[in-house]
Amino acid sequence: MFLANYLFVWSTLPFAASSIVKVPSGPVTVARGATASLPCEFTSDHDPSALVVTWQRVEDNRVVHSYYYQQDQLGRQSSDYRNRTELNLKQIVEGNATLAISNFGPEDDGEYLCVATNSLGSHRGVVRLIYAVYYSEPRLSIHLNSNDVTIQYETEGFPKPEVVWQDSGGQNLSDQSEVLSEDKRLYFLRSSYVTKNPAFNITFTLKNPAVHQEMQRHVIFSKDGSKGIHIPVVILGILCVTFMCSTCVLLWLHCHNKQKPHDDMMVMPNSNNHCK
Ligand SMILES: *[C@@H]1O[C@H](CO)[C@@H](O)[C@H](O)[C@H]1NC(C)=O
Ligand SMILES: *[C@@H]1O[C@H](CO)[C@@H](O)[C@H](O)[C@H]1NC(C)=O
Ligand SMILES: *[C@@H]1O[C@H](CO)[C@@H](O)[C@H](O)[C@H]1NC(C)=O
Ligand SMILES: *[C@@H]1O[C@H](CO)[C@@H](O)[C@H](O)[C@H]1NC(C)=O
Repeated sequence: MFLANYLFVWSTLPFAASSIVKVPSGPVTVARGATASLPCEFTSDHDPSALVVTWQRVEDNRVVHSYYYQQDQLGRQSSDYRNRTELNLKQIVEGNATLAISNFGPEDDGEYLCVATNSLGSHRGVVRLIYAVYYSEPRLSIHLNSNDVTIQYETEGFPKPEVVWQDSGGQNLSDQSEVLSEDKRLYFLRSSYVTKNPAFNITFTLKNPAVHQEMQRHVIFSKDGSKGIHIPVVILGILCVTFMCSTCVLLWLHCHNKQKPHDDMMVMPNSNNHCK
């Protein structure tokens, strides 16, 4: 009964002159876990009784949300969207069928068709949603090699980020960035910079323009101000002194014993030349 009415309205009025719908002109980026807002505005006739609003996925016609008889109708809603969608029932009568989808995930990336039908016609518009993930706090590791230092950051997000390494003067440095993608919805980024200079002051910048994310991290390593560089030197110094002292003591003991030899002492064959 209802469907017959709906189809009748649908087939007689699709090209009515007043069928205007306003949706975003470009794609809308939504971060993982966020609530997506899908704007869809149409010309209202201020008669809620005949208003039908349907949101569907373009790719496979899954029903995302429906409204008629002045209430939400979720009997044919895809289970993928259960408990996740919301229409503002006051705004809808005014011609605003903006849909909210909570807990946005990678499967929600795609196109959504909004169809609003009233006495003025059938209004259709498509909203394209793009999935993005904020990059996580980058993990820093510093590798000291025999003649250079590698500074490396690792982080995950989506889509592919922009990465720049700069020196303290703001000059771009050449880096090595590789994107190792575990699945199509999360990029694992490893970016490193190699320097021969043991003292450096560099800046790592990562941008995910899709979600207006920008992270900047400074890595400063100096010879003078840093305790990190002194600890090995101090340890080396102590080891050297210990080694020299023990050598002296052993040498002295050895020579002392040599001058007053005991029968049970083991004497190295050519150690004589150490003692005067
Ligand atoms: C939706 O919410 C209802 C009540 O809050 C709950 O009983 C139901 O299990 C939920 N369904 C899903 C798919 O989460
Ligand atoms: C349409 O409804 C949404 C959600 O209720 C609201 O955020 C938005 O401001 C409304 N748009 C207009 C033009 O009133
Ligand atoms: C590192 O460089 C920044 C400029 O990029 C500067 O403001 C800061 O003082 C420098 N730090 C050290 C310890 O040299
Ligand atoms: C540094 O590289 C970034 C990204 O490639 C670029 O946008 C920027 O203009 C460069 N800056 C300089 C000073 O070359």
